[in-house]
Amino acid sequence: MQRIGIIGVGEIGRALVDGLCDGVGEPPEIYLSPRGARTAAELAQRYPNDVRVCADNQDVVNRSDVVILAVRPQDRAEALAGLRIGGDRVVVSVLTGVAISELRRTLGTDAPVVRAIPLPSARERRSVTVTCPSHPAVDDLFGGLGGTLPVTDEATLNTFQVLTGTLTTHYRYLTTLADWAARQGIPAESADRYLRGLFQGVGRALGDDTRSMQQLASDHETPKGLNERLRTTWFDPVNAEALTKALDALLADLE
Ligand SMILES: NC(=O)c1ccc[n+]([C@@H]2O[C@H](COP(=O)([O-])OP(=O)(O)OC[C@H]3O[C@@H](n4cnc5c(N)ncnc54)[C@H](OP(=O)(O)O)[C@@H]3O)[C@@H](O)[C@H]2O)c1
Repeated sequence: MQRIGIIGVGEIGRALVDGLCDGVGEPPEIYLSPRGARTAAELAQRYPNDVRVCADNQDVVNRSDVVILAVRPQDRAEALAGLRIGGDRVVVSVLTGVAISELRRTLGTDAPVVRAIPLPSARERRSVTVTCPSHPAVDDLFGGLGGTLPVTDEATLNTFQVLTGTLTTHYRYLTTLADWAARQGIPAESADRYLRGLFQGVGRALGDDTRSMQQLASDHETPKGLNERLRTTWFDPVNAEALTKALDALLADLE
């Protein structure tokens, strides 16, 4: 079992630790950076046999086989300054939009450097994690947290990264529907409860990968019915094109 180090213990660091340890018979040893002190202390308390908080970031590197970098991109210079990482380690960066070439330059290491996009659902071991390039230890690690989707180049990884940026817009779509219902006089709690039920059904339907997304959509669409009317009048070619342009712009920025 690999020893796992995590530098930057925030939302995603916490999700990884929970996914690796919660209810797991033989979890790996996990070493956490001291920053994000409250989360790190909470995790060390929750998993006293498996998780330790280190003295500093170099201490994390020294104790680990796989070192996961999970600081905010703007904190990377400070977090990585002066770190010495031997070629026998594997570095995994989850930093959005930071190229492997830049990390390699900053770290000046011969160690393999892999980028990954774990999702918060790693906590429930349900994150399909894109990795680039494929590395057996890293693919194995994320395989246990819901699955690995290795890609060969960073341009492809960036395309997947853009897709992760669509989530809060999706939630905003739902709250806009709830607000509209409230304006029609429906109590907020009722609208909330109803929409959650409606879209939990969508989530469950998506779990059936024997049916394409097109098929799932057409299951819900009666010719000339409400769904078809909203799709064709609101999510019309102009609206779809605006979304495509916004996604293109995110991708251009990542590249
Ligand atoms: N959240 C997601 O869904 C998600 C998904 C995929 C990838 N990512 C990527 O994952 C990274 C972390 O995101 P996050 O949402 O987990 O951020 P976050 O909750 O803000 O956590 C970042 C952590 O890094 C710590 N930190 C800051 N400077 C540090 C340093 N010099 N040394 C060690 N730790 C330091 C922070 O500690 P303090 O609190 O003390 O500042 C904080 O605990 C980002 O690069 C993001 O692009 C996030």
